Amino acid sequence: MSRSRRKVVLDTDPGIDDAMALLYLHACDSLELLGVTTVFGNASIDDCTTNTLFLCEQFGVIAPVYRGADRLLNGETPEEYPDFVHGKNGLADIDVTVAEKTAEDQEASHFLIKATKANPNEITIIAIARLTNIALAINKDPTFASRVKEIIFMGGAANCEGNVTTWAEANIIGDPEAASTVFNAGIPMVMVGLDVTMQTWLSLDILDSMTSGMAQLKPLLLSINNVYANSYKTRQNWDEFPVHDSSAIAYAHNPKLFGTERGQITCTLNGEARGRTVFEPAASGNHRVCLSVNSTALVDGYLKTVTAAYR
Ligand code: BDR
Ligand code: CA
Repeated sequence: MSRSRRKVVLDTDPGIDDAMALLYLHACDSLELLGVTTVFGNASIDDCTTNTLFLCEQFGVIAPVYRGADRLLNGETPEEYPDFVHGKNGLADIDVTVAEKTAEDQEASHFLIKATKANPNEITIIAIARLTNIALAINKDPTFASRVKEIIFMGGAANCEGNVTTWAEANIIGDPEAASTVFNAGIPMVMVGLDVTMQTWLSLDILDSMTSGMAQLKPLLLSINNVYANSYKTRQNWDEFPVHDSSAIAYAHNPKLFGTERGQITCTLNGEARGRTVFEPAASGNHRVCLSVNSTALVDGYLKTVTAAYR
């Protein structure tokens, strides 16, 4: 008897580590990808959507792509994008030519609303970017939250420092009002934040050997990760780089890799700690925060799953 697959929607802002997360998700036979929604973040919404379409074509992902928010929930437009990590186009400034795939006409938050109506309490949203599209769906449809099975999100920092400010991680400080809206909506959530993503590391050497049997994808994967690795080397003098977005996919695929604590997450909106994720442990809470990870097993699983799928 075959195991039923977890229905997922990926909400993403590619982004080099988003690209590696999509690569992994598509390789996980436990996950059924119903659609990909895009949001501004690592680059503009135009670039993030084009990059998503391009990556889908490169990886053989046939799921539909829905273009989402181009600005924060409060209407502000981003002043700048983290081009010092992901390049100006969000994908290491490589040539991103999309052959055929186009984005659907439906906007991302409408797709989220429609998909959860068609599959009530069955869809897990894996969010690896700002939570803007999900907040928009919550604001547009008061019953949306009750139909979402779970949100697994890469973002936040519970017991560690942020990576943009002392307090805040990029996906949360990128739209704190959206994060707050989603945290307060009553949806079961799992936070895969810096507490665990900064415990799991990859390197160019590891990716070089992972891609040795992947003739078609190797140049693409190495060139984008070369830029990613360089940004960590230049800014931090690190020879390896943390596994952010793929850790959320790893949780969806194999939650046993993580140790979690139950409680309630809130987002600080004002003052110098704006964008901070505050976690209050509580046995009754419907949020869980990942606080530990078997990083050796995570990297092992990532490499085995990807090499088996793209050989
Ligand atoms: C998160 O911020 C983005 O730049 C990455 O893609 C990841 O989702 C890490 O803090
Ligand atoms: Ca991301």
